[in-house]
Amino acid sequence: MARLNDKVVLITGGASGLGKSGATLMNAEGAKVIISDINEDLGKATSAEIGDDVLFVHHDVSSLADWDRVIDLVIERFGRLDVLVNNAGIVVVADVENTTLSDWRAVHGVGTDGTFFGIQKGIGVMRESGGGSIINMSSLAGLIGYPLIFAYSASKGAIRSMTKSAAVYCAQNSLGIRVNSIHPGTIATPMVAGFEADVEEQGEERVKLLLGEPDDVGHMMVYLASDESKFVSGSEFVIDSTASITEGIVPG
Ligand SMILES: NC(=O)c1ccc[n+]([C@@H]2O[C@H](COP(=O)([O-])OP(=O)(O)OC[C@H]3O[C@@H](n4cnc5c(N)ncnc54)[C@H](O)[C@@H]3O)[C@@H](O)[C@H]2O)c1
Repeated sequence: MARLNDKVVLITGGASGLGKSGATLMNAEGAKVIISDINEDLGKATSAEIGDDVLFVHHDVSSLADWDRVIDLVIERFGRLDVLVNNAGIVVVADVENTTLSDWRAVHGVGTDGTFFGIQKGIGVMRESGGGSIINMSSLAGLIGYPLIFAYSASKGAIRSMTKSAAVYCAQNSLGIRVNSIHPGTIATPMVAGFEADVEEQGEERVKLLLGEPDDVGHMMVYLASDESKFVSGSEFVIDSTASITEGIVPG
């Protein structure tokens, strides 16, 4: 039997990169997948590419009103929500001295506010159906110091902490909802194009070792979405082929 048979999955920022990988792999495991994104053209193209049964919905995760509309649509269409992947995110490359208030607010609007809204709305709807899995996309930047992505690191740290707080809340209240975070190293997606490890500087072999593929993260989403991870909550999953415990490829 498929690992996610008939589970209803909403994945934010699903038009591209890690979200697209997760949507593709979860759909292949039998899930009913809803991709949400602000990029309407790409979102529609991605959902059509993955399969006829994959739904795209326009969704700005930084807007609470949009969350209400999208969750209502999911319930109206599918009757429940089993898995929510809070994946949408943006990055601004700026250190602590050069981060403007508007950089800070933009990154936190999508990453921190978007994940807060998602967790809150996800719990609200999953408690009705007896449980579910919420998967939050953090980063190595939520665990170690990346000097050039200050606001992003703060947001990913907040996502890590929100995950643990919400996981304990759900456990204490016997909601049957698991909440976990994923912490990828550098993965080849449009987000990091331009600041992957320098092949000339580090050598092709080392770059290959330290640059992941979207499916390296997508497979983790499948595991956390499935009942195979039924005893896993409040945990953080690092996917980085040692980058965080070696010199790594910290930008800058
Ligand atoms: N690629 C990496 O190396 C890496 C490493 C660690 C964590 N991450 C995290 O993984 C997640 C996915 O990143 P990616 O690398 O696939 O990037 P990506 O740019 O390919 O995909 C991000 C998607 O989010 C969408 N998006 C942006 N703002 C949005 C909003 N307000 N509402 C809804 N959707 C919005 C974009 O349109 C895009 O489709 C992000 O949270 C990112 O921070 C990525």
